Amino acid sequence: MSWQNPEFHRQLEVVDDRSINPTGNPQLGNIALSRRTLLKGLGAASLATLLPSLLSACSAEKASLKNKLIGFQSVAAQTSSTFDSVVVPAGYRATPFFSWGDAVLPGAPSWRADASNSWEDQLMQAGDNNDGMHYFPFAEQPNDRGLLVVNHEYVNPTLHPDGMQFTAGPDNSRSRPPEQVYKEIAAHGLSIIEIRRAASGQWQRVTDSPFNRRITAATPMAVSGPLAGHPAMRTESDPNGLEILGTLNNCSMGATPWQTYLACEENFHNYFVNRDAADYHARPTHKRYGIGLGGSSRYYAWEAVEPRFNATPDANRLYQGHVNEPNRFGWVVEVNPFDPTHKPRKRTAMGRLGRECATCVIDDNGHMAVYSGDDARGEYVYKFVPQQPYQAGNNSHNRDLLDAGTLYAAQFDTDGRGRWLPLRWGEPGLTPDNGFADQYAVLLNARGAADAVGATPMDRPEWVASHPTTREMYVSLTNNTERGKADPVDAANPREENVHGQILRWREDGADPWATEFEWDLFALAGERQKVDGSIPPHRLGTINGDLFSSPDGMAFDPDGRLWILTDADEEAPYTADIGCNQMLCADPVSREVRRFLVGPRGAEITGITWTPDARAMWVNVQHPGISYPASDGKTRPRSTTVLITREDGGVIGS
Ligand code: FEO
Ligand code: CA
Ligand code: CA
Repeated sequence: MSWQNPEFHRQLEVVDDRSINPTGNPQLGNIALSRRTLLKGLGAASLATLLPSLLSACSAEKASLKNKLIGFQSVAAQTSSTFDSVVVPAGYRATPFFSWGDAVLPGAPSWRADASNSWEDQLMQAGDNNDGMHYFPFAEQPNDRGLLVVNHEYVNPTLHPDGMQFTAGPDNSRSRPPEQVYKEIAAHGLSIIEIRRAASGQWQRVTDSPFNRRITAATPMAVSGPLAGHPAMRTESDPNGLEILGTLNNCSMGATPWQTYLACEENFHNYFVNRDAADYHARPTHKRYGIGLGGSSRYYAWEAVEPRFNATPDANRLYQGHVNEPNRFGWVVEVNPFDPTHKPRKRTAMGRLGRECATCVIDDNGHMAVYSGDDARGEYVYKFVPQQPYQAGNNSHNRDLLDAGTLYAAQFDTDGRGRWLPLRWGEPGLTPDNGFADQYAVLLNARGAADAVGATPMDRPEWVASHPTTREMYVSLTNNTERGKADPVDAANPREENVHGQILRWREDGADPWATEFEWDLFALAGERQKVDGSIPPHRLGTINGDLFSSPDGMAFDPDGRLWILTDADEEAPYTADIGCNQMLCADPVSREVRRFLVGPRGAEITGITWTPDARAMWVNVQHPGISYPASDGKTRPRSTTVLITREDGGVIGS
C-alpha cells in the first residue's frame, strides 16, 4: 500500500484523534439533558449579538497596532495537495531533528524505510506521532545542553510495511498479528533524549547519553496518591493496585518547576473493550469515558494479544480479570527525566479525564495550579490545586505535591465572569444518591462529577497556556461540529456547528492560581473572512486580527509573552480551502494580531512546542504527515518529526 494513495489517508483519519467523542454514545443522552437543566438560567449570548462587538474590537485594535513583540514577516497559507515541506519566514531555518525510528537508546538499530524494524528495535527507537514535548535545561549550560522529552501519542499504519492487519473473528471481535501489537505498544509513550549545541552552533542529539530513555505502553509505573492500592485499581495482573504497565495516548503535557515532566493520557478509551453491555452501562468509569462496547476495542484490538486490554468482567477470575484496567489510564504521569531509573508515577489526586495537558502556574506566594483541558465534545476545563504551596528549591517538599489537593471544573457565565467548582465529595451533586459513594468515585469519574456540579460543556478543550508575567490563561477550544445539538450555544461556545474553534482566555481574581473566580473573554473566533459574494455562513466567520487559521490545538507562551498557536484542522474540508495546511502562528495577546510563522506538510498536525530558556532555539512537532516528510523525494515513507527552528542571525525566535 502506498502512503500517497487515498486509502492510506483514510486509515490516518481512522486513528486521528480529532473526532473522538464519547458523547456519541446514545446512552449518554440523559447526561446531555441533565447538563441542559443545570445550565438553564445561565442563558446564552447569541452569535448575532456577540460577533459585531468582537469584530469592532478587532478593527479598532488593528488601527492602533504598534507591534513590538512580533518581528517576522508572515508566510503564506499553503493549499497544494502535494505540499511536502515546512515553510518558515525569511531569516529562519527549519531542520528535521528527531523522527519516528531514530535511535534513542545507545546501540539502537537504524530506522528502515520499508518499516521492517522489529518490535525489539522499536523499543530502542523514537516512537510515532510526536506530540507534546518539553526542553529541560541542564543548570550549567541551560541554552546549550538539555533533555528533550517528547510524547508519542499513538501510531500510524505506516508503522508496519503493509499497514495494520486485522482479521475479523466471531461476534465482531478482531485478531491481530502479535508482532504488530508489540511494535505498536513499543511505539507509544515518550522519548527522553539528551541534546547539545556544538561549538559550531549546530544542535545535535547525544546518541550515547545515559539519560536517553524510552517509556512505552508497557513500562511499569507506580499508582500514586489517593487511589494507590484502592480496590478499583486492582486487576488479576496487579492484585495490589499499585503498579500499572505503561502510559497511553500522551497528547499534550506539562512541566513542573521542580523539573519533572507531566505526560497526559488523552484518548485512552480507544484501547479497551467491554463485551458485557449490561455491565458497561452500569459502570460510569467505562461508559462515561467511551470505552469500546461490543466485540473489539475501537481502534487497535490489542486485546487480541494482550488480555489486559479486554475489560469485560469475568466473575471467575481474581478482581474480575481486567475490568479495572481502564481505571488505570486517564491520569497525569509524572516522570523525572534527570533520573533514568525513575519509576513514572500516575498522580490520581488530579482526577481521571481524557486529559490533554497539565499546565503548571505558580505565583510569588507559591500558590500553584495545574490546568487541563479534556478534549472531547462538550467536556470541561479543569484545574488542580495542590493542598500545599510550592516551595522554591525544596524538592523533597515539592516532589509529591501532586498527590493531594482539590480538582475543580470551570463554569463560564454569560457576563464574562466564571468560577471554579470543586469536585469534592459531599458537595451538592457529589453524593451517594447521585452515584458518588466517596471521593475515590469522584476522582475515577471526574467527568461525571463535573456534569453533576454544572460545569460548562466546552468545544473540545485542548491546550492551556499561561502568560509568563500576567498569568492570564488561554485555552484552545479546537472545534465542535455538534455544538447546538446536545449542548446549546452559549457565550463561551457561541457558534453552532463550530468547525473552526476559538481561543478563550481568563484572568484569575488577583492573578492568584488559588482563586475560585475569574473574568473571561474570547480572544479570537477562528475561521474565515466573509467573501464579496457573501457565501461564508455566519457560523464559519472568524474574528481573527491577521492571518487566518482553523482548529487551534497546541498553544504556549514563549518567555517574552508571544502566544504561539498550532493547528489541527481538517485540510480536506471546504471550509479550510483558504487556510490550507496545518500551521503555527504567533499572536500578540494585547493587540491580538496573529501572524503565520510556519506551514507544515500536507496531512500533518502541527503540535508540541518548546524552547531553550533564551528562546533562540525552538522545537515543533510535525505529526503524522500524509506525504513524504521529512524526505523530499516523494518516495520515502513519511515520519512524524520534531523540527528544530533557529534564526540565521541567532536571534530570539519570533522577535
Ligand atoms: Fe491529541 Fe486533543 O489532541
Ligand atoms: Ca486535536
Ligand atoms: Ca492536541
